[in-house]
Amino acid sequence: MVLFGATGDLARRKLLPGLFHLAKAGLLPSRCRIVGSAPARFALSDEDFRKHASEAVAEFGRAKPEGRAWQEFEGALHFGAADPEDPGPLLSAVREAERAVGGSPRRLFHLAVPPTAFGSVVEMLGATGLAGNARLIVEKPFGTDLPSARALNGTIHAVFDESRVFRIDHFLGKESVDNILALRFANGLFEPVWNRDHISHVQIDVPESIGIEGRAHFFEGTGTFRDMIVTHLFQLLGFVAMEPPTSLTAKSLRDEKEKVFETVKPLEPAHVIRGQYEGYRAEPGVDPRSDTETFAALRVELDNWRWAGVPFYLRSGKSLGQGRHVVTLGFREPALRMFPVDARRGRDVRGNRLVVDFADPGRIAARFLVKDPGPAMHLSTAQMTFDYAESFTTMHSLEGYERLLLDAMLGDQSLFTRSDGIESLWEAATPLLDDPPPVEPYAPGSWGPGAIHRLIALHDWYLPDGR
Ligand code: BG6
Repeated sequence: MVLFGATGDLARRKLLPGLFHLAKAGLLPSRCRIVGSAPARFALSDEDFRKHASEAVAEFGRAKPEGRAWQEFEGALHFGAADPEDPGPLLSAVREAERAVGGSPRRLFHLAVPPTAFGSVVEMLGATGLAGNARLIVEKPFGTDLPSARALNGTIHAVFDESRVFRIDHFLGKESVDNILALRFANGLFEPVWNRDHISHVQIDVPESIGIEGRAHFFEGTGTFRDMIVTHLFQLLGFVAMEPPTSLTAKSLRDEKEKVFETVKPLEPAHVIRGQYEGYRAEPGVDPRSDTETFAALRVELDNWRWAGVPFYLRSGKSLGQGRHVVTLGFREPALRMFPVDARRGRDVRGNRLVVDFADPGRIAARFLVKDPGPAMHLSTAQMTFDYAESFTTMHSLEGYERLLLDAMLGDQSLFTRSDGIESLWEAATPLLDDPPPVEPYAPGSWGPGAIHRLIALHDWYLPDGR
């Protein structure tokens, strides 16, 4: 495996700790070698790379870098710098690693580099012959709009055919996202009501309490819509909204998910709120007149039989009141005529709700109305909750990145995004990207600009009060 961007933030926080966790769990091939790579100006010796990895695992890993497991893992780490004009050190490191593995190992490249560098690294892999029959993991965001995504797909397909391309979105590796599939398609209780006849609206809500955490350079050029919405939140939407796949094979799953993306109606700027937290413009590295959004909320509609007329509300932003990952389905009310209007007590006793909280390990809760004990007919909200951590041992579960790295090694593309799906999403986003509404300020620790309530009017946001 060759890890481009090996000295970067993602490798430090997620990839190196994740790879060590896989090794410790016995899930890495025993003769695997990991070659870190970066441009020559960041070059490290093997020894320094091992030290770098050890520090990363100590800081961000679940298991400490010690004992036999660490020694073995560390022994598999190498470093080879590469610039498009001088890939020499990387070529030697790969050759040496492959000699150590023996036979003809399959290569896996992970592009954990800034999106602007994807194209040149892929071209270098093609020009040097390193690409061979290798697989390629590409980070997000994949392009910044439709023309750039098409161009990037073109560059990649000139070297790697689609069956070897793994566009990663770590939200799809989270345990509970997979569980949306199980919840929907393994249960006669839920699937029959999972449509416009019964569901009035859907919320996909990923507020974050963290700010930009020193990533001004990345964030200024990206913003929340490209960083979170068109990527993570839309991918979730794909799983929530898809038709039943005919099987759990990668092809059927991805066919159904990409079909959803084809039906996303063009995003109307009037249905989008862009926000920027107060103080963002004073962050180091941020333009004092920056128009980059650190928050986005939008109403999305799907033009298909299952979801016609059902709004999907998506929200994500930095420096908000809480960090959560929640999908909420709001159900239509039955006629209720037999219950007097004042029979429902307290607040939030309106429709039924199904809430999938996909924080690892996550929870699923159903909210419904029950009768208050006593002689009078009063209704109150009740909740049934299933909590993964209480019901299962989650000690052996894998984090999003770990699961997806493993799937890529095994060649399973089920949870990776496909070129046609990505292009459909950028196409739907075009009206918004061409004419974005101005950013509205919001207070750090709040839930975004006040306009979010207008956006969802008639319904309300499940968070913050839904808990
Ligand atoms: C990343 C984004 O893809 O996902 C970050 O670039 C964001 O801005 C992160 O904070 C959220 O991931 P998680 O798994 O921590 O919710």
